[in-house]
Amino acid sequence: MTHKILLLGANGQVGHALQTTLKPLGEVVCCTRAELDLSTLSAQPAALIELVQRVKPHIIVNASAYTAVDRAEAEPELATLLNAEVPGWLGTAAQTVGACVVHYSTDYVFDGKKAGAYTEMDQTNPLSVYGRSKFEGERLLSQNCKRSIVLRTSWVVGAVGGNFLKTMLKLAQEREVLRIVSDQQGAPTSANLLAQTTAEILRIMADQPANDQRWGVYHLVAAGQTSWHAYASYVIVQARELGWPMKIKDEAITPILTADYPVAATRPLNSVLDTTKVRQAFGLNLSDWRVGVDEVLQTLSKLR
Ligand SMILES: NC(=O)c1ccc[n+]([C@@H]2O[C@H](COP(=O)([O-])OP(=O)(O)OC[C@H]3O[C@@H](n4cnc5c(N)ncnc54)[C@H](OP(=O)(O)O)[C@@H]3O)[C@@H](O)[C@H]2O)c1
Repeated sequence: MTHKILLLGANGQVGHALQTTLKPLGEVVCCTRAELDLSTLSAQPAALIELVQRVKPHIIVNASAYTAVDRAEAEPELATLLNAEVPGWLGTAAQTVGACVVHYSTDYVFDGKKAGAYTEMDQTNPLSVYGRSKFEGERLLSQNCKRSIVLRTSWVVGAVGGNFLKTMLKLAQEREVLRIVSDQQGAPTSANLLAQTTAEILRIMADQPANDQRWGVYHLVAAGQTSWHAYASYVIVQARELGWPMKIKDEAITPILTADYPVAATRPLNSVLDTTKVRQAFGLNLSDWRVGVDEVLQTLSKLR
């Protein structure tokens, strides 16, 4: 299989993992902020369209995004530019060269009030600027590009880039008490799982026509669910077993309520996503969230 693949956001958590997993599919052309700062596109997408028309990819994978969920409340224009307008323009550009697009979205498109896991059929109702901007990006991309796949994921964790796991490792070595939210439920999902699954989906979909019923929106997260508190506790116990010098004692990892931890952006309490659709459409087995977390811890331990 020799496709030309344009990868945007190649230095992010997911983008970095994609650099490896997309290679067997063909030639990967990486685009980072250094090549094209997407925030400079403002109201005219010419540079992005020029990039796509110059590279002439068969596949575009967009791992770029404005991911600072709290900061987005103060920077709604920038978040909307990167998370909504850029995917929309990418869709238009992809159509002009006949490329398909894979794009990532978020559990934060939901309000978290449902009892049980969210399916792709459930009503969206984002609670934050970030969630609204990501939902608008899904809509604009799907509208402009018929051959597109949107993968909604949650709580991304990788060895490269910043994330909750890395913050917990740092704080657990420095502090005697940690207060962690225990009433938000979701699934930590590794960048490697997302990148490997993206490649598996593209193997099936890259050459499919626009009328294939499998183009569309999917929920893609690791199996199982947990709370931020239980996730932090798991990470700290595992890291201690791997020899990390933890200052925190297990009993000092204190569960708190979302209401007792004020932040700028409101998060859904229930972020659990049902993955039946993606597993059935592409014959996938999704591992438990602990498998991905263990892999990240092993990698970070080797780098220590
Ligand atoms: N992280 C999560 O917990 C989470 C949860 C749900 C969904 N998602 C979605 O999953 C996808 C991948 O997330 P991630 O965790 O891999 O994000 P990430 O690590 O924050 O990476 C985002 C990438 O976008 C690039 N980018 C940001 N602003 C840019 C700009 N102005 N110009 C060019 N590039 C720019 C960044 O470049 P630099 O490296 O130069 O900063 C980075 O490579 C995103 O669509 C995100 O919304 C993430």
